[in-house]
Amino acid sequence: MSRSPEPSMMVIFGGSGDLTRRKLIPSLFRLSRSRMIPAGFTIIAVSRSRMTDDSYREMLRSWADKDGQNETWNNFAQGIFYMSADYRDPATYERLKELMSKKEAERRTGANRLYYLATPPADYPDIVRHLGENGLSREDSGGAGWIRIIIEKPFGYDLASARELNHEVSFRFEERQVYRIDHYLGKETVQNILVFRFANGIFEPIWNRQFIDSIQITASENIGVEGRGTYYEQAGALRDMVQNHIMQLIALVAMEPPPDFHPDSVRDEKSKVLRSIRRIAPEEVSSLAVRGQYGRGFTRGKEVVGYLEEPGVAPESRVETFAAIRFNIDNWRWADVPFYIRTGKNMAKGVTEIAIIFRETPHLIFRQEPGAGIRSNVLAFRIQPDEGITLRIAAKLPGQTTEMRPVNMDFRYGSTFGPHLAGAYERLLLDCMLGDPTLFNRIDSVEASWSLIQPILDTWKADQSTPIPQYESGSWGPTESDQLLARDGRAWRLL
Ligand SMILES: NC(=O)c1ccc[n+]([C@@H]2O[C@H](COP(=O)([O-])OP(=O)(O)OC[C@H]3O[C@@H](n4cnc5c(N)ncnc54)[C@H](OP(=O)(O)O)[C@@H]3O)[C@@H](O)[C@H]2O)c1
Repeated sequence: MSRSPEPSMMVIFGGSGDLTRRKLIPSLFRLSRSRMIPAGFTIIAVSRSRMTDDSYREMLRSWADKDGQNETWNNFAQGIFYMSADYRDPATYERLKELMSKKEAERRTGANRLYYLATPPADYPDIVRHLGENGLSREDSGGAGWIRIIIEKPFGYDLASARELNHEVSFRFEERQVYRIDHYLGKETVQNILVFRFANGIFEPIWNRQFIDSIQITASENIGVEGRGTYYEQAGALRDMVQNHIMQLIALVAMEPPPDFHPDSVRDEKSKVLRSIRRIAPEEVSSLAVRGQYGRGFTRGKEVVGYLEEPGVAPESRVETFAAIRFNIDNWRWADVPFYIRTGKNMAKGVTEIAIIFRETPHLIFRQEPGAGIRSNVLAFRIQPDEGITLRIAAKLPGQTTEMRPVNMDFRYGSTFGPHLAGAYERLLLDCMLGDPTLFNRIDSVEASWSLIQPILDTWKADQSTPIPQYESGSWGPTESDQLLARDGRAWRLL
């Protein structure tokens, strides 16, 4: 159903930054152009760079206005204002308060305010505290308008800092005002996992340990750190991909059916299944988790350097650019079904997919070549590129033979619904303006996924002597990753 939010104002902390440039402004402009947000929609961008409203708008035009929609752009840009200020300075918030009140009156945004934290993450707690101390966080009990805050990932650097951030945020805001964004959840295929599971009668009865052998989640990139070595040195694959995106994908695939599509019903089930994932004990880390670092090689037809040669990376760095883990879920549905996940940079392909691997047929009456992989059906959710769903089945080759081949039944979003899918940020920004937090992370699931990752982070950090397995750029990761599955008699899917 199409939905239309009330007029509102968005204050972007980090107005001159990369996220604002590449994602926020283009997404807001597309929403405005397709009339999904009301005409009075207003943006106040805050950062230190010295600019006027006009020079900021000019800079934005070059970021967003690629297709010559000048008139639409001019209308949209009229609602953008720039405030050059340091958000660490308490005086900034007095100025901000005045500017917001002035623009609210001029543009009739009904005192509906949305703060977007697009700054270095270490500054989130400070900004939240300042907003609270200046009376800018609580919704007026007189009902003046709503106040919401979007917090970009990462939500903390580890479990302790995530708890600290959550503590500050929940001291200043009500949980219902807080939208922790994970752009993976805005992708069509990710949302479609729920529709697929809970709007089709044929899958749910087989969605369990009786029929499913294992689940594989791959989120591989065929690019390296792309000049962001300094940032990546503070992150690594576990923090950058597993704690947030991959844990959310596991939750959507494995959760129980919620009673309805109310935000808290969905989020209750996600949180419950995250709490059912078995914690990996420190002594199990070496057998259940693999890390790796890319060396030299070729990706996308180009020769590339190894991670340790990247600018901003310490020559002795032990930061992982690849991680593969086996998780298990201790509940009735998933007992003994392994969830294998892998993610890495500079790998053979850039692919994100969830593969549900069904059990083999109990007895095959047809002959097949060893290793032909026909005995188990695979249902794959392709999240990127080429969003869609594939079911692998066995089919008979034409002719006087019973020879078989695996074939795919394929659903592609692009060919079924047309080439333009709304971007993840468009979807999530609109949801937030509409007050729908279903696709945002709640405090409990953030902490649950950190508590699963923390023992692995701690064990890897404590081990400063075992060499980090290296993998050639353009490959599927270190051999240890294959061994993780081979030990269980399984192998990664060929992608
Ligand atoms: N970039 C992405 O694609 C992406 C994707 C997902 C999540 N994120 C997250 O989004 C956040 C922002 O990332 P980014 O890549 O956009 O970072 P960035 O390019 O470094 O931008 C940081 C912004 O914060 C402003 N800033 C820094 N200190 C300030 C201060 N004291 N007062 C006022 N403004 C200040 C900077 O502007 P001035 O220097 O002009 O002050 C700049 O606008 C990060 O938490 C990141 O993890 C980014």
